[in-house]
Amino acid sequence: MPTRLHLLAGIVASLCISTFFVSTVLVELFGSPDAVARLKSLIVAPGLWILIPALAVTGGSGIFLSKARRGRLVETKKKRMPFIAGNGLLVLVPCAIVLDRLAAAGNFDTTFYGVQAFELLAGATNMALMGLNVRDGLRMTGRLRAAPAADTRTY
Ligand code: HEM
Repeated sequence: MPTRLHLLAGIVASLCISTFFVSTVLVELFGSPDAVARLKSLIVAPGLWILIPALAVTGGSGIFLSKARRGRLVETKKKRMPFIAGNGLLVLVPCAIVLDRLAAAGNFDTTFYGVQAFELLAGATNMALMGLNVRDGLRMTGRLRAAPAADTRTY
């Protein structure tokens, strides 16, 4: 049961980050200022209200599951989690709130695009770290096989 919860919360959190990222890029490139403002508002609510609990549940259940586990994969996952959580809570959440306020006021100035660029960078970093944690998790549960060692035989 904790493994299922961890899997589900990890997938929800990863999907949130990637959906926020892709929809932001698309709407900034092709959308109207109104569409950008609407998306920025949706990212704050309900977006952050889904992302933050999902991240907390993923981290909490991961720490719980790791009590019964030893090894390199679990240690590496544990080391990545503070970066994922810190990046989420200290960068992505404040950026999302500031961008929502600026867009709602129609302020699409250099501050908006500076914060937006920073948010996309933090989002991409978290997508990569969470992707690695999903991969290592699936390896631990045997759903994903580790890459085979290079074949050094001579035929
Ligand atoms: C955003 C962060 C994380 C994501 C996206 C994530 C994702 C996953 C996934 C997809 C699985 C495979 C579940 C399955 O196949 O049923 C897994 C397993 C696992 N994860 Fe995580 N994980 C994260 C953080 C952590 C943390 C911080 C720890 C603690 C060290 C951790 C410990 C584990 C353990 C021990 C398993 C294996 C469970 C078992 O063998 O029953 N995970 N994780």
